[in-house]
Amino acid sequence: MKALIAAGGRATRLRPITHTINKHLIPLANKPMIFHAIDKIAAAGIKEVIINVNPGDAEIHAAVGDGGRWGIKVGYVEQTGGPKGVAHIIKVARPHLGDEPFVFYLGDNIILGSITPFVERFKRENLNGLLALSKVKDPQRFGVPEIKDGRIVRVDEKPSEPKSDYAVTGIYVYDKNVHTAVDAIRPSARGEYEISDVHTWLIEHGFNVGYEEITGWWKDTGKPEDLLEGNQLLLSLLQGADMTIEGEVAPGAVIQGRVRVGKGTKIGPKVLIRGPVVIGENCSIEQSYIGPYTSIGNKVRVANTEIEHSLVLDNAELDCGERIVDSIVGFNARVVSSKSSLPLGHKLVVGDHAVVEV
Ligand code: G1P
Repeated sequence: MKALIAAGGRATRLRPITHTINKHLIPLANKPMIFHAIDKIAAAGIKEVIINVNPGDAEIHAAVGDGGRWGIKVGYVEQTGGPKGVAHIIKVARPHLGDEPFVFYLGDNIILGSITPFVERFKRENLNGLLALSKVKDPQRFGVPEIKDGRIVRVDEKPSEPKSDYAVTGIYVYDKNVHTAVDAIRPSARGEYEISDVHTWLIEHGFNVGYEEITGWWKDTGKPEDLLEGNQLLLSLLQGADMTIEGEVAPGAVIQGRVRVGKGTKIGPKVLIRGPVVIGENCSIEQSYIGPYTSIGNKVRVANTEIEHSLVLDNAELDCGERIVDSIVGFNARVVSSKSSLPLGHKLVVGDHAVVEV
């Protein structure tokens, strides 16, 4: 069995962060988002992975490499013909997939737990397709299954009147019949080849499409608040070897709960860190409080600041004498005190598509 990971798209809802980085490389719990997907795929025993990237994208390749880090082989396929929907990604990857069954994984989906039982069930029950479902409050945003007598009878993409309160998540297993379905469907009203239409086509043509409910946790990280929630989920899993404290911690600094601190990071004496928190390498933290569910990247300076439930990316600087919550601070961004220069007042250099709540 192979795996196909979708890692393209424009991610406009995650601007300005995605002006400078592919969404799938945004670090959550200090690890690029797509690494979490590859971890799951490799743990399920899959040895060959194809990653669909935007035309000309070299970033994903540079970060993931040939897969050696996971003991698997990773190849890349560029999305040709522009973004034409999730099902079109399968069409473009077709020459690389052959007739083997494969896991299709949308690289922005974050889940709790393993996909191994899911893959095992697909094999054991000789299914043609297996969909992972998750109960959601807002099914209108997703592919929604209609379920009758324990079987999916159709899947509607972003329906205004959902037939169930489940979303079809972005984790699927297919056999080769999916290619026939992909070739058969027509673009939807919004001009996309919808993966939900592929599912309905398979079911209506008598193929055996099963489903499995993800009972733990699932997040499709489309919006900034989803990134914070995904980060929160991944930090809540911090344990054992993930919790090493490297760097220098001054006597007097207080570290509580599950915390990881990277090499070369200096924690000053008047610092309280309350986990779960990860702090990267070569950071400096002084006179500050770092509260639960915060990830701080590498080479970040935090001084005279309280921060909680936030994501701070590499090379950022926070020195503002304020309390920051539920925030995403991008690469090289600075949040500093307005009181150090006249006139007083908020002084902003806010990038395109940024959001600031003052
Ligand atoms: C896509 C699929 C949708 C699925 C969702 C899961 O939607 O079209 O059926 O429920 O992924 O992440 P998109 O995120 O592209 O809007």
